Amino acid sequence: MSAQLVVGTQWGDEGKAKVIDYLSAEIDFIVRYQGGANAGHTVVVDGETYIFHLIPSGILYPNAICVIGNGVVLDPVAFTEEMEALRKRKIEPAGRIVISDACHIVLPLHRLIDEHRENAAGTKKIGTTKRGIGICYGDKTMRIGLRVGDLLNAERLKERLSHILEIKNRELRHLYGLPEAQLEPLLEMLLQFGQNVRGMVKNTSLYLNENLAKGKTVMLEGAQGTGLDIDFGTYPYVTSSNTTTGGAIAGSGIDFRYLKRVTGISKAYVSRVGEGPFPTELHGEAGDHLRKLGNEFGATTGRPRRCGWFDVELVRHAARVNGLTEIALTKIDVLSAYDTIKVGIGYKRGSETLNAFPTDGNLDNIEVIYEELPGWKKPIGHVLKFADLPKECASYIKRLEELTGVPIKVVSVGPGREHTIPL
Ligand code: GDP
Ligand code: IMO
Ligand code: MG
Repeated sequence: MSAQLVVGTQWGDEGKAKVIDYLSAEIDFIVRYQGGANAGHTVVVDGETYIFHLIPSGILYPNAICVIGNGVVLDPVAFTEEMEALRKRKIEPAGRIVISDACHIVLPLHRLIDEHRENAAGTKKIGTTKRGIGICYGDKTMRIGLRVGDLLNAERLKERLSHILEIKNRELRHLYGLPEAQLEPLLEMLLQFGQNVRGMVKNTSLYLNENLAKGKTVMLEGAQGTGLDIDFGTYPYVTSSNTTTGGAIAGSGIDFRYLKRVTGISKAYVSRVGEGPFPTELHGEAGDHLRKLGNEFGATTGRPRRCGWFDVELVRHAARVNGLTEIALTKIDVLSAYDTIKVGIGYKRGSETLNAFPTDGNLDNIEVIYEELPGWKKPIGHVLKFADLPKECASYIKRLEELTGVPIKVVSVGPGREHTIPL
């Protein structure tokens, strides 16, 4: 009778979906609780690669129910495309997807504004995925958003949508010089979408809590990572939701007392896509080399990811704000090429050593204190047991455990389900 959570500890793309898939074989409900189609979650099973954006990664288990929680922002176009892509691959999602009636809807105009704002922002751009995420969450906070439940009642939808368009069209016209969005075609599209998903829509907080009370199990699937959290990330270079444990409770509506296990996913090095501070970043050829080794290109936008060494201060921060009970360390196989591996063990600013990852978003003039560890220079993708890892690799893992203060319970040595070592 419990829930568990998988959450990113860095700037996203830590390999969350790979670990969620590994941990979910016996899970009844897999729940997305925040973010939207900005996420790109990769699962590799029997050599087949699947990338999920809105649909929870548990969909590959035929008995799991996949829930899109109230904290998610749902793009009808992206959702429909993803459902169709699944069907083409002979995965039938019907009857296994449940959507919260309180999910906010990402409208085409949210995407449009996101794109135009980014293009107009010059040096102040965030480097968003242009999926309309921040604009939709903005409208949610401004209390003019449209929710899934609104799509099921034509009269209510028309009234709400007219009100939203009155406001957003002013923005489109005056701020961006764009044509206004027309009510009728949008109304028709949303009503049609409402009809398509009607059978999937529920009060998901009630549904999940009732099932938890019956002894069913829940996996909460985080998107993005702690460094991108709207409160605890490197603001303003963040996404627009709480990616962390608090967000998992608010975005799913489960009773927090069910949450028994919080697994932080940490890549054995760090990547970041988009703008914003990155203290342990490797620049130039060194960065290109690691990007190539790790095949670090965005699963949603295809953008090259910035790469750098493991940052202990960032993961300690993640451990604190998420209440991590354990860590799953991923992509350690990528480091097999190095003679020596650096680990950022702390931050200095001038002569002052910082006592924690700054929460004011100001990481200017940070100097990273590094420790250098010996590499192992051997492929490890085939290893099934911790005891069979090269001793330098085992020492690297143990050193990260010591420095972060969190037990490492899973080590991932490749993208496939089978490339996973329990500790
Ligand atoms: P997520 O957003 O956190 O789910 O991560 P992404 O799917 O965006 O990016 C992780 C990438 O690394 C994907 O291409 C995975 O298939 C791949 N991957 C995950 N774990 C491992 C691992 O242990 N080793 C290697 N080499 N690749 C991995
Ligand atoms: P997963 O779940 C990595 C980044 C964007 C940008 C910032 C804001 O696959 O780990 P947004 O479109 O959310 O307004 O962009 O957040 N970002 C991600 N980076 N992985 C993700 O998701 C991301 N989702 C958003 O690059 O810097
Ligand atoms: Mg990703």
